Amino acid sequence: MRSYELREKYLSFFREKGHAVIPSASVIPENDPTVLFTTAGMHPLVPYLLGASHPEGKRLTNVQKCIRTGDIDEVGDATHCTFFEMLGNWSLGDYFKKEAIQWSWEFLTSEKWLNIPREKLYVTVFAGDEDAPRDMESFNLWVSMGVPEDHIFFLPKENNWWGPAGQTGPCGPDTEMFIDTGKPKCGPDCSPACNCGKYVEIWNDVFMEYNKTHDGRYEPLSQKNVDTGMGLDRTIAILQGVESVYDTDLYKGIMDRIAQLAEKEYGQDPETTRAYRIVADHIRTSTFILGDEKGVTPSNVDQGYVLRRLIRRAVRYGLQIGIPEGSTPRIAEAVIDQYGSVYPELVKNRQFIMNELSLEEEKFQRTIKQGLKEFDKLISRLGADTKTIAGHDAFRLYDTFGFPIEFTQELAEEKGFKVDIEGFKESFRRHQEISQAGASQRFKGGLADHTEETARLHTATHLLHAALRKVLGDEVAQKGSNITAERLRFDFSFSRKMTPEEIEQVERLVNEAIDKDYEVVCEEMSLEDARNSGAIGLFESKYGSRVKVYTIGDFSKELCGGPHATRTGELGRFRIVKEESSSAGVRRIRAVLEH
Ligand code: SER
Repeated sequence: MRSYELREKYLSFFREKGHAVIPSASVIPENDPTVLFTTAGMHPLVPYLLGASHPEGKRLTNVQKCIRTGDIDEVGDATHCTFFEMLGNWSLGDYFKKEAIQWSWEFLTSEKWLNIPREKLYVTVFAGDEDAPRDMESFNLWVSMGVPEDHIFFLPKENNWWGPAGQTGPCGPDTEMFIDTGKPKCGPDCSPACNCGKYVEIWNDVFMEYNKTHDGRYEPLSQKNVDTGMGLDRTIAILQGVESVYDTDLYKGIMDRIAQLAEKEYGQDPETTRAYRIVADHIRTSTFILGDEKGVTPSNVDQGYVLRRLIRRAVRYGLQIGIPEGSTPRIAEAVIDQYGSVYPELVKNRQFIMNELSLEEEKFQRTIKQGLKEFDKLISRLGADTKTIAGHDAFRLYDTFGFPIEFTQELAEEKGFKVDIEGFKESFRRHQEISQAGASQRFKGGLADHTEETARLHTATHLLHAALRKVLGDEVAQKGSNITAERLRFDFSFSRKMTPEEIEQVERLVNEAIDKDYEVVCEEMSLEDARNSGAIGLFESKYGSRVKVYTIGDFSKELCGGPHATRTGELGRFRIVKEESSSAGVRRIRAVLEH
């Protein structure tokens, strides 16, 4: 089976079961400052799992672009990738365990769908603890499907519980489906819990019936949800009977392109194989980050830092296999060829992706040359009996020459040195505290809050968007936004810096709209009606065919998921704190509401 067939089959199956197919959300979360990337299909759906009504209804399905960089060092083995697609289906307070399990079984085993031999399937269910009972209902459902009891394992929370995505939010017990790869057991206790590679997880049905609170309690959610996720990359590797995700059709064109560019052949030895995979994975992820065109470009903070690290790591491992300078855009082309028909944003933003990659690569090549000289000087300064590079020196290489810490570590290792990583982290932390006090907030965890303050800032963002278009013209279009309880950040297309007069005029218009105390009216309609009504907003990226349109008097009409204030009079005084460049042709405004 080809990867596109798996995507199509999954969506058709759930369409037949009454689910609306919704598009993938961006890999950069909207309005959620607590995580850098979208990590699972459920992530953009959190407000709906908590009870908000989704314009497409209570049964949804999609293929979501996901990024998880926590295991970046493992990339290069058979299964780890920093980007993957997740096939998912959701019940928002509609069906629960019975249908979810029945449908999972049907999709996996029916001849019409994946036709996986039943005897190869194993499942795990939640064993129960002080927070939630043993999941006998799921156990009995699997037994009624014909799964033999010795193919069902009860496991604790570490294995069979999912969420919340941050530190608080929807979560619950899950039941996971595994395929027996046919490899020998690793020991007498070998089970799906042991990660030895015999059993590979392909699907997870989460029964989200709890909300984890700030004080660590699990309180029942007002609605019981189902959240399922099947990793496309991993599942297709199993179905294609190949050893690793890098040997599936998803990667074929990308690996072929790398082979054309490289001096060494794929599969020659473990190191070369690893380098090929790292280049392929990192350029694929970078292409998707840039392809969403949310104003993320390589930088030293947040998503920009991850992007920088991915590109630079790819260049570095590319050097190992003899890929010439300036090749990353050519590898990205192969990614776009592979994925462009499923994710048209990659084709649309091809030029932007290629430009950003070559700019970053050039910068890195320059700093590598300078930094290597610095590195050699540093080594020669160290006394003969010092075998450790101090944390602050490693930090200077990072800060001044853009050397990712792993790069310094690897260079050091080659010469028989170690790096004081704790010292590096300490310098890094101090630097962060000084330079961007706000960013540390991001790592505290927790889900995007839906407090009144955030709702007010959402409404203020609509007023700002409308005011910008009135003052600067229709060239202005939203490129991204990010709202916390303290401030809003809004990225929009505009080719030059705003003048102080323009900033003042925008502030005045927004404050006038606040003074008029308009009602904020929400209507659900089809995407087409929304377009025809003259609503503005991110039409392409995020929404299904039924959308919510928020109208604020005759001032603003915009597509949005909410939440919003009820009236503009609640907002307080609007003030623009900063207007700056975000990336080429994109400006960024930070603004606050003062009470
Ligand atoms: N959220 C669950 C997961 O990521 C199921 O979609 O596995």
